[in-house]
Amino acid sequence: MEKQFTDIKAHYCFAKSDEELLFQMRPELESHADEFLEGFYEFIWKFGQVAEFLTDEVVIARHRGMIRQWYLDLFGGTFDISYFMKLYKIGEVHVRLGLPTHYVNAAFNYVRIFAIGEIQKHYHEDPGMLDRVKAVEKIIDINLDVLTASYREEEMSHFLGLSRVEKTLLSGLKNISSYFNYLLSGALVLVAFFAVGLFGYDVYLLFSGQIHIEKGILTVLGSLLILWAAIELIHEEMKHLRGGSFAVEVFITLAIAALIRKILIFSLSPEKTTDVLMYGGLVLCLSLSYWVMMQRNTRTKK
Ligand code: HEM
Repeated sequence: MEKQFTDIKAHYCFAKSDEELLFQMRPELESHADEFLEGFYEFIWKFGQVAEFLTDEVVIARHRGMIRQWYLDLFGGTFDISYFMKLYKIGEVHVRLGLPTHYVNAAFNYVRIFAIGEIQKHYHEDPGMLDRVKAVEKIIDINLDVLTASYREEEMSHFLGLSRVEKTLLSGLKNISSYFNYLLSGALVLVAFFAVGLFGYDVYLLFSGQIHIEKGILTVLGSLLILWAAIELIHEEMKHLRGGSFAVEVFITLAIAALIRKILIFSLSPEKTTDVLMYGGLVLCLSLSYWVMMQRNTRTKK
């Protein structure tokens, strides 16, 4: 373990001189600890879902005390095995809580900007300012490295815990699913072309006078709606291929678009009133499902 931590210091070229520089800066940075803490919580609170982890005033107060100590230790001048063990334990606690690693990374961005800002304020006339900034950058990066090590180990242990058969099956399934995704993208592009064809055909019917002008315009509008929904589906699939999640809501918008097209056409025939009402009911149900999904999405983004 000791070797691991000496290696980390060596890889970041963290020398005795860096330790000394950090320790020299302690009084200035300590006098701004309250300001640091205010900004820290204001910053992380914007991530959303923070309240799921920092659940009440007691936990927040405890965390605040711990963050304060952690911040002061950055300038403590002692970076021995027990310092690294403490960092490693913080990482483990975060992993156990299921805290997204992204939150920790983003919080570090605040720490970095705050610390560098303070150094610039206090040492702008010091010719050694750059060395001070470098020392802070190094210790922050080392902290981030150790704090996120537990996350990487968690991921690895999940994968390493699988048997050979499971690993082969997993990579096989991944490959198959990516082939199917490309197939789906191709099919969606084909659907978009069909929608263009439908639009062209509707325009042809309108101009050739084969259908009444009012019905013709509504039909063209309906096919445009379907084309728009098909393009939305392609956009979603592109996002999915880039690693994002697939928004099922888009399928609902496609179904709504198709039903609205039917309603537009049927609305001109008095004998189709029952069909219009039926399709109207379906649109209402689908719109409700769409609304529920959107509400859920906004709640998870908060
Ligand atoms: C710079 C980034 C952060 C540092 C240095 C840090 C530091 C710490 C420390 C020192 C502990 C105590 C570990 C122990 O018990 O040994 C802790 C626990 C915890 N951290 Fe963080 N933290 C950071 C970011 C965050 C963020 C962004 C959140 C929430 C969104 C968070 C939520 C928690 C929670 C809920 C606990 C457990 C608190 C308890 O019940 O005692 N931390 N953290």
